This record gives sequence, C-alpha cells and structure tokens, in this order.
Amino acid sequence: MAKQHTFSIIKPDATERNLTGAINAVIEKAGLRIVAQKRIHMTRKQAETFYAVHKERPFFGELVDFMVSAPVVVQVLEGDNAIAKYREVMGATNPANAAEGTIRKLFAKSVGENSVHGSDAPETAAIEIAQFFAGNEIVG
Ligand code: CMP
Repeated sequence: MAKQHTFSIIKPDATERNLTGAINAVIEKAGLRIVAQKRIHMTRKQAETFYAVHKERPFFGELVDFMVSAPVVVQVLEGDNAIAKYREVMGATNPANAAEGTIRKLFAKSVGENSVHGSDAPETAAIEIAQFFAGNEIVG
C-alpha cells in the first residue's frame, strides 16, 4: 500500500495535562511518522468550520467550547494505510469502549474529552490537512 497522510489533533484535555510527548511516543511506536506539527489555540471559527459536519448534533456547542478551551497540537501523520492505522492506534471514540494500549484507553477522560482526533477517510483527511497546513509545511 502506498504511503498515506492523515490529520491528527492532540486535544485540549491532553495538552493541558502535558501529554503531547506521551501521545507522540504511542504514534511513533505504531510506525506512523509525524511529518508536520504545530501547537495552536483554535479560534471559535476554526473549530466550527472543522466540525461543521456535526453542527446539528446536540453536543456541537459543547464540542466547540472544548476545542477552543486550551491549545491543541495539529499534525500530519504519514505511513502505510495511515488513516486506518491511526484510528486503530487512537481506539474507540468513547474511551470506555477503547482497546487496551490505545491512546484513548491510556489517556482520554470521556467521549467529549477524548484526547485525540483522526481523519476517517482520504477525502476528509485532505480537507482537514488543508485547513491547517500549507503544502510546504509537510516534510516527509
Ligand atoms: P472526534 O473524532 O474529534 O470527532 C467528533 C467528536 O465529537 C468526537 O471525536 C468526540 O470528541 C465528540 N463527541 C462525540 N460524541 C459526543 C458526545 N456524545 N458528547 C460530547 N462529544 C461527543
């Protein structure tokens, strides 16, 4: 399988607990390469745009409030089958259902404060990466 890119966010619950390095260690141990990374404080508009697909959901307001509550680390990860691989490494959205050894099992606090985001398909990965990175910021 050709190398693929996926988009990742280390969320406010994790940056606040100083877990960026610990999460990156799990990512790298799984064989994914961090080819772009920056720490930002998302604006409300950025968070609303990023999660627009969820805007009719009852938790949308809570989700946006959370994502702007503290800094996040946005990343591009590269690897064979990177999208599916990272979803496996993250574990289930709700940490109560996440498998042993996954990022969410290890670190997430709840379904809302679940430490990381990862793209779910090639089309969304391309859109999400383009929202936060210029092509020349991704160095494989
Ligand atoms: P993420 O992969 O970033 O994509 C959408 C996010 O919505 C998801 O992770 C969760 O953090 C959040 N989410 C999903 N379900 C709920 C819920 N029931 N309550 C609060 N947040 C939720």
